Amino acid sequence: MNFLLAAVLFFSVSEARDFKAIKESGTIEIATEGAFAPFNYFKGKELTGFEVDVANAVAKELGLKVNWKTYGFDSLLIGLNQNKYDVVIASHGITPERAKAVEFTNPHYCTGGIIVTKAGGPLTAKDLAGKTVAVQVGTTYLTALQKVPGLKDIKTYPKDTDSFQNLMAGRVDALVTDRFIAKESIQAHAKKMKMVTGDLLFSEQVAMAVAKNNKGLVEKLNEGLKKILANGVYKSISEKYYSEDIRCK
Ligand code: ARG
Repeated sequence: MNFLLAAVLFFSVSEARDFKAIKESGTIEIATEGAFAPFNYFKGKELTGFEVDVANAVAKELGLKVNWKTYGFDSLLIGLNQNKYDVVIASHGITPERAKAVEFTNPHYCTGGIIVTKAGGPLTAKDLAGKTVAVQVGTTYLTALQKVPGLKDIKTYPKDTDSFQNLMAGRVDALVTDRFIAKESIQAHAKKMKMVTGDLLFSEQVAMAVAKNNKGLVEKLNEGLKKILANGVYKSISEKYYSEDIRCK
């Protein structure tokens, strides 16, 4: 188990709020990062994005108000087991490692980690040999990159947007990020620099997380998610951000 996940377990101090306690208070506390557009990000001062809308819709189904909090990506699962909030929704892929430390809901979308580079840059895992690659710390992209043979260097950054800045500044040859983020960011930076996507390195299911053993809350979140997947609410949120339905098929 890596250090971060060991810390998640070690810092599990007080009891997490169960669904009953949350329901009695009327408000669910949800944390995200706020720097992973279009999944979770700030539009000016307003926290928004696909995951913010999805979580708000799930909470509405459960008759709850939401109190949003934002933290650095690599501290989100730790804070969960310290009971700083009830739920994390921040594009966490379900991995066996993470599942030891937290509980995951059913996935709210399916995606994958993709290579992004400049014209003429490395497009495949093989091409990455001898190259310097940027990635956000604590992510499944980092784990995937660590398995690619022959890399010159992996540069880890606190935020995914840092990877793009460093690619554009020419400090790295490529980066790995979410395939939907890649699409959005390439468009957003098109005027400054032409970037392209390469191979998808792996696929993953992305889910909400709650504190270890808080299984009753997982069940309720799954109920809410199931409802919005069935009643068209999820579909319209997804199409608003991606012009397609990104649910797991
Ligand atoms: N899907 C990747 C993972 O599971 C990246 C998530 C990054 N999320 C974020 N809010 N920056 O690690």
